[in-house]
Amino acid sequence: MKAGAYLSPKCVAMTEKEIPVPKMDEALIKVSYAGICGTDMMIYHGVHPRAEAPLILGHEFSGIVIEADENHHVKKGDKVVIEPLLHCGVCSACQQGQAQVCKDLRYIGIDQHGGFAEYVAIPVHRLRVLPESVTEKEGAMIEPLAVAVHTVRRSKLKIGDTVVILGAGPIGLLIGLIARQAGAGRIVISDVSSMRLETANEMGFEAIDARHTDISHVIKKYTDGVGADVVFEVAGNQATANQMIECVKYQGEVVVVSVYKKSPTIQLAAMHFREISLTTTRCYHSSDFSKAIELLEQQKIQLDVLVSHTLPLEEIQTGFDLMENPDQALKILFEL
Ligand SMILES: NC(=O)c1ccc[n+]([C@@H]2O[C@H](COP(=O)([O-])OP(=O)(O)OC[C@H]3O[C@@H](n4cnc5c(N)ncnc54)[C@H](O)[C@@H]3O)[C@@H](O)[C@H]2O)c1
Ligand SMILES: [Zn+2]
Ligand SMILES: [Zn+2]
Repeated sequence: MKAGAYLSPKCVAMTEKEIPVPKMDEALIKVSYAGICGTDMMIYHGVHPRAEAPLILGHEFSGIVIEADENHHVKKGDKVVIEPLLHCGVCSACQQGQAQVCKDLRYIGIDQHGGFAEYVAIPVHRLRVLPESVTEKEGAMIEPLAVAVHTVRRSKLKIGDTVVILGAGPIGLLIGLIARQAGAGRIVISDVSSMRLETANEMGFEAIDARHTDISHVIKKYTDGVGADVVFEVAGNQATANQMIECVKYQGEVVVVSVYKKSPTIQLAAMHFREISLTTTRCYHSSDFSKAIELLEQQKIQLDVLVSHTLPLEEIQTGFDLMENPDQALKILFEL
């Protein structure tokens, strides 16, 4: 079968692999669509702390069940999405049902072979059957959508709130869509890429170009000098870690979604004087994954606008090259 593998830093390639043979309690999946994510880019650059080459990447993907034992909840022909978290099941967090903060959390596509391949064997308990109306293409974006659902559900966002999102990448834009569903009032998103700002505008958000405009001034102007109720930090750098505090209202909330390549300095003194809350979020709970699927089934969320490219797996290197420049790509999907 065809498989897209990370071979060494800055080198990915299409390789030929044996079709995997499912072990007990695994199903064989024919992959339909698989997305490239920021974490894949970290692996590609050789800076991911766990991923080891050679590795078939891909943790955001959908497919069709080709082979599964009869006693499972999935059957041959089912359209499925993969929930890629692998948790230990025995640590305190797992026992409390909070697998997303498992002390030994692992991922399909990072710690073991993933979905950039024609076929993959997946433990059946990691498979979700998609409703009829949810397409396989949408299915490949449920994983990042679940990140946004988890983020907004962990926040204190209330109806009518003014929301700021720093960073209009796929995750920032998805948080915007979910915040809108959750009843947010004004949603202002900043970025430094013209293409991403255009997409944010197209999606009905107020887009601010952080290269030319001080976002905290804009927010103060909109709120009589008070600030936003909730600020989501989704750009992941020192400038936005400062801005999140400058933009937020007294007793407001900053929500850190970013995974920082270098841990920023946070102005705790400034936070203290205005009783600002800080919330962090990590991936998603299984219930967030379910909500993401439900929102798509109910057609509350349109994801097409996020897809900048759909490529054959043969063009894996092109996909990773495009992802290097935020002005060239947003969500890239491989069609298997
Ligand atoms: N919490 C989680 O579980 C989780 C899950 C997925 C991704 N993430 C993290 O969320 C962040 C966003 O993910 P993504 O896939 O959308 O990444 P991305 O890199 O595509 O998006 C980040 C955006 O921030 C913009 N940006 C850079 N500097 C900026 C500035 N000064 N002001 C405003 N915008 C600026 C970039 O142009 C880019 O569009 C990353 O840090 C990623 O690691 C966290
Ligand atoms: Zn991801
Ligand atoms: Zn655990």
